[in-house]
Amino acid sequence: MQLSHAAFNDIRKVVHNLCGIVISDDKQYLIKTRLESIVKSNGLPSYEALVQRLAQPVSLLLQDQVIEAITTKETSFNRDGHPFDELRRTILAELAEQWVRRKATSMGIAPKIRIWCAAASTGQEVYSVTMAIADFLASRPGIALTLDDFSILASDISTNALAIARQGRYSAADLGRGITLDQRERYFRQDNEQDSQEDIDTRGEWIRSYHIPPEQRRTDDKGEVLTQMDGIVVQCGVIEARQVPHPGQPAIGQ
Ligand SMILES: C[S@@+](CC[C@H](N)C(=O)[O-])C[C@H]1O[C@@H](n2cnc3c(N)ncnc32)[C@H](O)[C@@H]1O
Repeated sequence: MQLSHAAFNDIRKVVHNLCGIVISDDKQYLIKTRLESIVKSNGLPSYEALVQRLAQPVSLLLQDQVIEAITTKETSFNRDGHPFDELRRTILAELAEQWVRRKATSMGIAPKIRIWCAAASTGQEVYSVTMAIADFLASRPGIALTLDDFSILASDISTNALAIARQGRYSAADLGRGITLDQRERYFRQDNEQDSQEDIDTRGEWIRSYHIPPEQRRTDDKGEVLTQMDGIVVQCGVIEARQVPHPGQPAIGQ
């Protein structure tokens, strides 16, 4: 199917408005590979017709299809390693210290330590954070802090990705990407009905998020947009599900 330059530019704008993703000038192939099947399966004759349909106020379903197709959900457990090492080594220690101090000076009451995984994709990141917290707590016996003193929020624009994240069920291949043997033994439980999948206890809140409009973009000190998305953060989150944390449990899974 022919993608004219004008239609390509219109689609880039639509995608940007829908989810803040910036598609550069040379990415015609991306639009074609990701959106052509949507054009066809909706019985539309051309990309121009797609743009027109997307502009209609009743096109929410189609908009969702475009968002699902255009977002890249690439993720893995403990992705890039060092952020999670840093979390275990320094960040959590500082947070814990502050929290214990605050609790001591506020009649034993301290609000939860709140952690937010924005653009959490299929959940590997949020579980990696949770495992890092559990590892940290296990390495500090006697610390006056438990996993339940943390509130963990995961958000993403993709409903499909969040549905997978919320389930907390991963294949051996998923676990093979980043999970250590020790973590596998400590935090995952084999699902006997489908041996290829393993469960992790889900905890945290899951919300669907939308991008912040360009005028509220976060930029670095050189004025450059911080991520490929110019504003991942929740603007008007719709709470899709809540998971109640398991009380008094030092670790997720079994
Ligand atoms: C490459 S994945 C990164 C996942 C994870 N943060 C990691 O580093 O492993 C990017 C995620 O951003 C999400 N995303 C894209 N645009 C978004 C937006 N405007 N608001 C929230 N999430 C968005 C996508 O759905 C996708 O799941």
